[in-house]
Amino acid sequence: MTSLADIRQQFLSFFEGHGHSVEASSPLVPDNDPTLLFTNAGMVQFKDYFTGAMTPPIPRAVTSQKCVRAGGKHNDLDNVGYTARHHTFFEMLGNFSFGDYFKEEAISHAWELVTKEFDLPKDKLLVTVYHTDDQAFDLWKKIAGLPDEKIIRIPTSDNFWAMGDTGPCGPCSEIFFDHGADIPGGPPGSPNEDGDRFIEIWNLVFMQFEKHADGRQVPLPKPSIDTGMGLERTAAILQGKHDNYDIDLFQSLINASVELTGVKAVGEAKFSHRVIADHLRSCSFLMADGVSPSNEGRGYVLRRIMRRAMRHAHLLGAKDALMHRLVPTLVSEMGAAYGELGRAQASIEAVFEQEEERFRRTLGRGTSLLEDATANLSKGDKLDGETAFTLYDTYGFPLDLTQDALRAKGIDVDTDGFDAAMARQKEQSRASGFKSGDVGTDAIWTDIRDEFGATEFTGYEDLQLSSPLVAIIQDGELVTDPKAGPVMFVTQKTPFYAESGGQAGDKGVVSFDNGAVITVSDVQKKAGDVHVHIGELSGAISQSATAHLSVNADNRKRTMANHSATHLMHEALRRVLGEHVTQKGQMVDGERIRFDISHGAAITREELAKVEDQVNAIILQNAEATTELMSPEAAMEAGAMALFGEKYGDEVRVLALGEPFGDQPEKAYSVELCGGTHVHRTGDIALFKIVSEGAVAAGIRRVEAVSGEAARQYLEEQAGYTRAAADTLKSKPEDVPTRIQMLIDDRKRFEKELSEVKKQLALGGGGAASAEDIGGVSVMARVVDGVSGKDLRGMLNDQLSALKSGIVAFVAKDDGKVAVGVAVSDDLIARVSAADLVNAGASEVGGRGGGKPGMAQAGGSKPEGADAALAAIKAAIEAAL
Ligand code: ALA
Repeated sequence: MTSLADIRQQFLSFFEGHGHSVEASSPLVPDNDPTLLFTNAGMVQFKDYFTGAMTPPIPRAVTSQKCVRAGGKHNDLDNVGYTARHHTFFEMLGNFSFGDYFKEEAISHAWELVTKEFDLPKDKLLVTVYHTDDQAFDLWKKIAGLPDEKIIRIPTSDNFWAMGDTGPCGPCSEIFFDHGADIPGGPPGSPNEDGDRFIEIWNLVFMQFEKHADGRQVPLPKPSIDTGMGLERTAAILQGKHDNYDIDLFQSLINASVELTGVKAVGEAKFSHRVIADHLRSCSFLMADGVSPSNEGRGYVLRRIMRRAMRHAHLLGAKDALMHRLVPTLVSEMGAAYGELGRAQASIEAVFEQEEERFRRTLGRGTSLLEDATANLSKGDKLDGETAFTLYDTYGFPLDLTQDALRAKGIDVDTDGFDAAMARQKEQSRASGFKSGDVGTDAIWTDIRDEFGATEFTGYEDLQLSSPLVAIIQDGELVTDPKAGPVMFVTQKTPFYAESGGQAGDKGVVSFDNGAVITVSDVQKKAGDVHVHIGELSGAISQSATAHLSVNADNRKRTMANHSATHLMHEALRRVLGEHVTQKGQMVDGERIRFDISHGAAITREELAKVEDQVNAIILQNAEATTELMSPEAAMEAGAMALFGEKYGDEVRVLALGEPFGDQPEKAYSVELCGGTHVHRTGDIALFKIVSEGAVAAGIRRVEAVSGEAARQYLEEQAGYTRAAADTLKSKPEDVPTRIQMLIDDRKRFEKELSEVKKQLALGGGGAASAEDIGGVSVMARVVDGVSGKDLRGMLNDQLSALKSGIVAFVAKDDGKVAVGVAVSDDLIARVSAADLVNAGASEVGGRGGGKPGMAQAGGSKPEGADAALAAIKAAIEAAL
């Protein structure tokens, strides 16, 4: 049997043999398109080559691309697990021509691969073309020799492919495989085309247009080719299966899930195992590409998929979290083709486990609520939106999870009602926060990039240089003679670092020969590698002037120290907390370090101290920092820590800091891929101090720290607080904690004594208060001031034991509050109940009480009714006796 891995390789090699360059899959989070939720097709990473925004460095490419279709256009989530072919994650094999070959060669390559390499019988194949595409129709006839009835013209959008609402698009032609007459379904274009007999395996897109946000469709600079073949469905055919879930890869995953749950993949359980296997892939790959579960945007899509899988694990009766235990099988199946999976394994497992444990706390209760709410509903009914919203809001059930749970019963959800409930709760921000990019300005940057190329960055070595201006932008437009005021500009070369990799852009000044000056407050990267300086112009300049650029050296020095300290801290956190720790975000500038990591619990004070100690130990080594340029593969081999989800170029900068340390004697202390600016020797950092630690999202902690002079100042400030405390206490700083403890103990003692004294005072000072006689019974009834409700019970007991036989009633006022308490001795409770007496009093102070016949108490809100309450109690005693 040809394995899925073999088929992937066969495809890549075939096109490599036809002059295509084999390119790596791009990350699932597209870095070139903010409007796209996830990479959903092989062409996404090449989008700018098709539109002409960038010049392709190669004329043709071939890839096996990781794709996620869950959320946004091309969303398959609802059907996953229940059909033979839907997946949230899949691999798309594709060959691409960037203005090189077009229809004829695309069709002839495709036909050769399918019929010769894959050896599929020609009579099992048929194709579709866009209804007006006579050229494609004729080519299929000529190249494949297919009869007319097997080249079907499709007039719908099925044969016009678009990446999204905007972007490259064009008519397409699809190859179908006929799984045989015993499976129901008709050919494409027929009324029962949705059946499962004829399956599309390969889509050839003839890229010819770009769709703009305003709906215009403009021709691309050059017609191009984008194709997409579903690897899983092709594997099914080549492995003699009809169902994707029966292929080798899915069977391994399903077997692992069967083994861990002890539930066979039959009946309803079959769907659950399939959902788990599918979602295991998408979630793991998303996490490997840097997505973390959260309540918005991409993170929420990930959380939804995760929870859907976790509900199915629960359905299978899994007693403990399941998903993380399946990750090793996935890594052994797919880790060879996608190295990031293995590199992120520890972190994926940790996040899965933590999310599942968390969700399991509400999953059971949510499920019961859902069962109760639908007990009286039947097929075709709808669950009300409010309940669906409660499930979402309180029990963490994403809407699609609730829909999935009701699917088997044929019950739908009132999604309008759900939306209304959601809208009402505005502060629960919506799942998707995506905005389209600032298209107007983006176009300026790409134009500049095309005309002048990338900005040459000289700032690793120099902080000053002179360079011609290449563009000036004011009020969003290119200008040649800007006015004084806010301005942006680009030079050929610059020593100014542009914000990237979590390091802030440089600040500084740019002067001109005529005396004009631009104060630069920030530098951003646009169109990939154009450094855009942002600042304020005073004086007048023109486009032809030469800029004398000078980076603020002090700020830069502090930024470098902070950045290098961050690398050391990252390594220290991994060594102290574990390998699951990965960087989730970073911001360093001249002031401070902010670093987010994946970690499931608060970092303890001891752990933080260990991290600080280790970082400072490396600083004290004062070893030279080294940077080396190498290929990404060589860098990984050298043990460099790379960021998940980054796509690195052909050459990467690898920064090594510190001498070998502890139990890792074979490499420098920290080795990381990084384009930022760093210290020459670790000693330049001088000192490192963590300032705070806290949660930013589930499973993500933020550590803030300072280095160098800022760290010294911070410590000085802290010492200042202790000194001030010591002065106030008139003690030595080292005695402050003991002295404070003594003061706290004293205070507790005084409070206790004070409350005792207050009670005595309230009763008229020392000893038992005098009682009056009502109907032959001793009654002590008082309004007492400055006594709180919690002291009442003790007072009632004390006084009742002094009386031996009788009734004690207090109305206690304290701090705007009032409480009523009554105690009746045992010999009298047959005649009068404390509970009744308390109620008689409580109604006068706006309260209600309760208790037993011997002792009862009530709180009230109207202290001004205290006297009336006491009178009411006395009257009730008289009436009862
Ligand atoms: N981009 C095309 C698709 O996704 C090939 O079907």
